[in-house]
Amino acid sequence: MKNIVLIGFMGSGKTVIAKQLSKILKRKIIDTDKIIEKRQKKKIKEIFKLYGEKFFRKVETDAVKYAGKQKNIIIATGGGVVIKPQNIKILKKNGIIVYLKNTFETSYKRLKNKKDRPLFKINNLKETRLLFNKRLKLYKRAADIIIKTDNKSIERVADEIIKKLDKYKICKQK
Ligand code: S3P
Repeated sequence: MKNIVLIGFMGSGKTVIAKQLSKILKRKIIDTDKIIEKRQKKKIKEIFKLYGEKFFRKVETDAVKYAGKQKNIIIATGGGVVIKPQNIKILKKNGIIVYLKNTFETSYKRLKNKKDRPLFKINNLKETRLLFNKRLKLYKRAADIIIKTDNKSIERVADEIIKKLDKYKICKQK
């Protein structure tokens, strides 16, 4: 069965929603950021600091290639996965792409005290908001399914995803 691929901006809840879906659907999760950290033996923040974004994007595509080869899993991606059309092509081949959509304010609320996202610049919210606005159309273009997540519980978002996936006949609920 096809993979369920979660995309969305930083703070859209990809990781927590992946965990909830995994619990309900009994599917394994692959998180591309975690693969990168494991392979590089470094945290994302350090990778950006030491080698820069270009290098990160390269190893991100390697992780996407690995994840895209799997079947019947949930793939949680990094917020920038949509930058490269190649990544989306790989993920779509064997997966349904679910865009977790939220406002910038929701991402800000979730991330304002976190320090592990080099591109969510708390000290330069103007730039971060610009990045958010620039990404919107990329997520929309890549998505098979769009789920709005503002002010919704994890359970509700996961339920809405499962309902919408019904027409793709890829998740049999027990
Ligand atoms: C990024 C999002 C991050 C991580 C990296 C770059 C981005 O993942 O991949 O910091 O460009 O939006 P999350 O969306 O899980 O925070």
